Amino acid sequence: MHLLPLLATLATLTTALPSTSLLPRQSTTTRICNPTTSLCHIQLSPGSPDKPLFRIALPDTPSPPYDIILEIVSPTSLTWTGFAWGGKMLRNPLTVVWPNGDDVMVSSRWTTFYGLPRAYPSATYKTLRSSRNGTHWSVEVACSGCSQWAGQQQLNDTQQFGWVSSTRTPGVPSPANVNSPLYVHTSTGQWPVQLLEARNAAGVLQEYVKAAGGE
Ligand code: HEM
Ligand SMILES: *[C@@H]1O[C@H](CO)[C@@H](O)[C@H](O)[C@H]1NC(C)=O
Ligand SMILES: *[C@@H]1O[C@H](CO)[C@@H](O)[C@H](O)[C@H]1NC(C)=O
Repeated sequence: MHLLPLLATLATLTTALPSTSLLPRQSTTTRICNPTTSLCHIQLSPGSPDKPLFRIALPDTPSPPYDIILEIVSPTSLTWTGFAWGGKMLRNPLTVVWPNGDDVMVSSRWTTFYGLPRAYPSATYKTLRSSRNGTHWSVEVACSGCSQWAGQQQLNDTQQFGWVSSTRTPGVPSPANVNSPLYVHTSTGQWPVQLLEARNAAGVLQEYVKAAGGE
């Protein structure tokens, strides 16, 4: 647990934008801006309390590469949660997170087949904060290498994102090992996201990462 007191006490101001009718029923995408840090992110919620929630913030850099902030909030019923930057399991950066004691592990993965994804060193993460309480575990990271990847792939203005989660116990057999094997997910979902809604003025993202103890 290394939550800055400043960040812990922040209230968030919700400015709801219309969510698109293409989304699966009940799931929402909402732009939320924090009045104290000025950081805005898009919140992706599957609309169910037993599913994970994701928040993404990008700089307004016109084209990749750029660093991205990703926050994942998981109910404690989930043993691991994953995020797929190209919307699918194969050939795109996969962010996989799970609780380990008071920490949350952040694992960078990649796969070319529907089996256990291997370590992916081309995306690197800085943990900005993590927390755990009786109902949820959460982690906020800055990713370098999630905006573009091998095969000339890059995030587009309208981007499909994918997520998975697991309720298996155990879900992660060696939780202290960032490259632990994983047992296969039990839920999956996808969103088309208007990345414009996740953009921030130049410098805001950098300041935010600095204030959160990254650099
Ligand atoms: C642990 C071993 C894993 C196995 C055996 C596995 C296997 C599979 C299978 C069989 C599917 C369904 C394919 C279909 O419907 O045709 C799938 C979908 C998916 N998996 Fe995995 N998976 C694993 C780990 C992961 C991890 C770590 C992620 C991280 C994000 C992930 C992300 C996804 C996503 C986003 C989908 C839905 C989109 C798609 O089908 O590509 N998987 N997986
Ligand atoms: C972005 O758009 C290009 C051109 O349509 C496409 O080839 C590429 O796969 C897209 N990237 C992702 C991550 O979906
Ligand atoms: C537990 O953590 C979650 C995620 O950070 C948060 O939304 C929730 O308010 C926390 N609950 C309590 C009782 O502090």
